[in-house]
Amino acid sequence: MKRKGIVLAGGNGTRLYPLTKAINKQLLPVFDKPMIYYPISTLMLLDIRDILLISRPQDLETYKTLLGNGQQWGISISYSIQESPNGLAESFVIGKDFLKTDPSVLILGDNIFYGDGFSSKLKDINCSKIGSHILGYPVKNPNRYGVIEFNKEGKVIGIEEKPKYPKSRYAVTGLYFYDNTVVDRVMSLSPSSRGELEITDLNNLYLKDNLLNVKLLSRGMAWFDTGTHESLHEASSFIRSVEHRQDMKIGCPEEISWRKGWISKENLINLASSLKKSNYGEYLLRIIRT
Ligand code: TTP
Repeated sequence: MKRKGIVLAGGNGTRLYPLTKAINKQLLPVFDKPMIYYPISTLMLLDIRDILLISRPQDLETYKTLLGNGQQWGISISYSIQESPNGLAESFVIGKDFLKTDPSVLILGDNIFYGDGFSSKLKDINCSKIGSHILGYPVKNPNRYGVIEFNKEGKVIGIEEKPKYPKSRYAVTGLYFYDNTVVDRVMSLSPSSRGELEITDLNNLYLKDNLLNVKLLSRGMAWFDTGTHESLHEASSFIRSVEHRQDMKIGCPEEISWRKGWISKENLINLASSLKKSNYGEYLLRIIRT
């Protein structure tokens, strides 16, 4: 079984205006690399090598310039357009032909995950062929997200999209694992009152069939979404602090690919040479030597 990955990197990023008036949000920097490197790295850490990137018509060429077909990182990246931000679940309408009958994982282009043993903690989920798996994370402002509702026994009984009065502190993160029934399920959804195909409606469909699994992430794990000026800055500072302290990079696709054996040392040296005037390129050369 090969799980395929979708990175949804469209949206108008209106909460980041004027930063995003001319530039797609996921092309903005998060410290030393474009935001889109982080979700792609997350998929690579999960051993997902077949990736579909979805973005706005006006941004697709820029993504192709930045990422190419992914071969340089030992992966495959293909591209599709989302004409307008019609909701997260539309990813599966757009990605139908890409997914065929394979299970999938969707990651939002503005989501950053970091923590010790991240991929091993998600190994069972990643290998599961049945149902849907989502991650819950405690946050101060759950009303910005899909919020998980639990009963007294701690069983998940519902998810509410951006509720005024959240029923818990647990937000649903932007990393979702689905079996191969996802496309059919999305096809049965209707747009919400705000005109979007809602991922929360999709997850509630799985819940109704007793096929929704929720894993709660602990405080040892960092999850950022970078949709506001504050959260973008917070994510950048976090990445800078950890990278500076450890002299190791977070979300570096070249390094992940090399360490996984998907590209050779020579490949990495070539990639590094084209970046060598930057600290990023120097880092790549340094990890080969040490
Ligand atoms: P949001 O932050 O909900 O939307 P946005 O990025 O357009 O920002 P704003 O609210 O400031 O206008 O989106 C979360 C992520 O999902 C982000 O990476 C963009 C992406 N997205 C799409 O690509 N298409 C969509 O239809 C939606 C709703 C979001």
